[in-house]
Amino acid sequence: MKRILIIGATSAIAEHCARIWAARGDALHLVARNEQHVQVIASDLKVRGASEVTTYCTDLNDMDKHEELLSSAEDALGEVDIVLIAHGTLSNQKSCELSVEETLQEIQTNALSSISLLTLIANKLEAKNRGTICVISSVAGDRGRASNYVYGSAKAMVTAFTSGLRQRLYKSNVSIVTIKPGFVDTPMTTGFRKGVLWAKPTTVAVSIVKAIDKKKAEVYVPSFWRLIMLTIRNIPNTIFLRVKF
Ligand SMILES: NC(=O)c1ccc[n+]([C@@H]2O[C@H](COP(=O)([O-])OP(=O)(O)OC[C@H]3O[C@@H](n4cnc5c(N)ncnc54)[C@H](OP(=O)(O)O)[C@@H]3O)[C@@H](O)[C@H]2O)c1
Repeated sequence: MKRILIIGATSAIAEHCARIWAARGDALHLVARNEQHVQVIASDLKVRGASEVTTYCTDLNDMDKHEELLSSAEDALGEVDIVLIAHGTLSNQKSCELSVEETLQEIQTNALSSISLLTLIANKLEAKNRGTICVISSVAGDRGRASNYVYGSAKAMVTAFTSGLRQRLYKSNVSIVTIKPGFVDTPMTTGFRKGVLWAKPTTVAVSIVKAIDKKKAEVYVPSFWRLIMLTIRNIPNTIFLRVKF
């Protein structure tokens, strides 16, 4: 039985990971800002077999609450074996271009709030010499593109931060797993026309849980995104400037 803290627990991807852990009989502490939604998920996870499900509600941009959030997890779970950080917003690139305030808010939600949590959680796990932290970044962080570089740059920061953190904590036996999903059919992408490159949150969750079990470092989900992003990263700048995607 694992003790798992899920931050951003109302995310569709996180909920599907939680269902897998519930079926294994794990104990779950769910952190989200929407109290009603997280309670519905908590009840469902109990029915699905979770040995214990507790909740804590906060807006994750309220970084002054992060210490309290982690204390709530320790109170509920005792030791924490696994942490999944899943919250995020898909930035409106066009309106960010017209507003510094909105741009910084998006960087706050998609990068700084996670970095605050990662710093606090990493220090706790380092002191215990054990544990796994998994963060959902994105393929969008691999190369800034005109259509979504605010969101992409925030995710790039998360990817680079977790790369350094992983190296720092290697000797402490703490694993850092960075997930880079491509397009996933969740509430975040409602309104997008779905095509062959799109994955379901159920499939993505299976890959995330497997990556955590195997203590992988960086995982593209689905795996074909590794090749797509390798290609995109290697497009020469002279061509990249002229293409639109
Ligand atoms: N869907 C994709 O195509 C895709 C691709 C690559 C990466 N990702 C990443 O995958 C992760 C999960 O997203 P998803 O696809 O599962 O989308 P989702 O279902 O829309 O989940 C996003 C979650 O983030 C929460 N959230 C946002 N801002 C928050 C805040 N300030 N405080 C607390 N919670 C906050 C939302 O809470 P509310 O419900 O209260 O708004 C929601 O539960 C995100 O990090 C996203 O960037 C998604």
